Amino acid sequence: MRADELLTIYEIRAKEPQDLEFLGLGQKELLGPDLAGLHLEGDFAFLFFVHDFDLKPFLSAYPKLTIEAIHRLRYDQWRDGDLGGPLELGPLSVWPGPLGPAPLGDQKVLYIDPGLAFGYGGHPTTKSCLKFLVRLLAPKTLAPPSMTAALDLGSGTGVLGLAAALLGVKNVLGVDHSHLAVDQALKNVALNGLEERVKFVQGLAQDYSNVKGELLMANVPLFVQKDLIAAGAYDDRSYAIFSGVLTEEGEAFYAALRERRPFKVIDFERCDRWLTGLLEL
Ligand SMILES: C[S@@+](CC[C@H](N)C(=O)[O-])C[C@H]1O[C@@H](n2cnc3c(N)ncnc32)[C@H](O)[C@@H]1O
Repeated sequence: MRADELLTIYEIRAKEPQDLEFLGLGQKELLGPDLAGLHLEGDFAFLFFVHDFDLKPFLSAYPKLTIEAIHRLRYDQWRDGDLGGPLELGPLSVWPGPLGPAPLGDQKVLYIDPGLAFGYGGHPTTKSCLKFLVRLLAPKTLAPPSMTAALDLGSGTGVLGLAAALLGVKNVLGVDHSHLAVDQALKNVALNGLEERVKFVQGLAQDYSNVKGELLMANVPLFVQKDLIAAGAYDDRSYAIFSGVLTEEGEAFYAALRERRPFKVIDFERCDRWLTGLLEL
């Protein structure tokens, strides 16, 4: 996306996060081919268009949704709110877009062009997940487990799955219900030359819960987490990194997981409104 591209961003509010769930799959069918991006975040969503768009027909079909605000911004103004600069995490550096320095020494550099998908690394949930990923996979912290496979449920730009591969996990599968996110994640696979080891598919995370892998990464809201737990996504794994859960929802998340299986919290982080955890399973 060009830096000076003008965006019209509709901020949509719902009564409950579940009222927006239907926007996950089938976004093109619901909002047409002009939809350029979509962020769902709890009880609100940002719908991105590269021009003004008449949302009245859509909203009249979904009376629980209202337009909270309309933002008109250039792409770089939107993106800089999230990006700001490279994200330095010790042995891992995450660069916004294809332009960046060559890695220094043992440092790994991940290039992420976020387009309009979720997750360059600036969001507190992404950042905390990346920190735990580095801690788990980079030597000198936790003993580096030699991992053969990881699953990234709710993959957005692909940042977590790609970081896991760059830090040594042999094969990664990422799943997102948004076709826009998956398109962007696939561009990022190519940007980092990881086509052989990292795949992203469009679908419901719940439907991929039983894909094998020692590591699960799931940065998705609590109601999706509960579905994932029930579908077995946290079973038969060694570690999980979860986020997307509000701090006040943490106990509900742990209770649902405790009912399903034993686990140990290696570490957790509260950042802004969000809880992120690194679990041994
Ligand atoms: C908070 S973002 C996380 C993106 C990225 N993993 C990161 O950490 O920055 C959540 C992502 O999950 C996707 N998502 C939410 N519910 C989902 C579901 N039930 N199935 C598949 N994807 C889902 C959204 O489209 C979004 O891209």
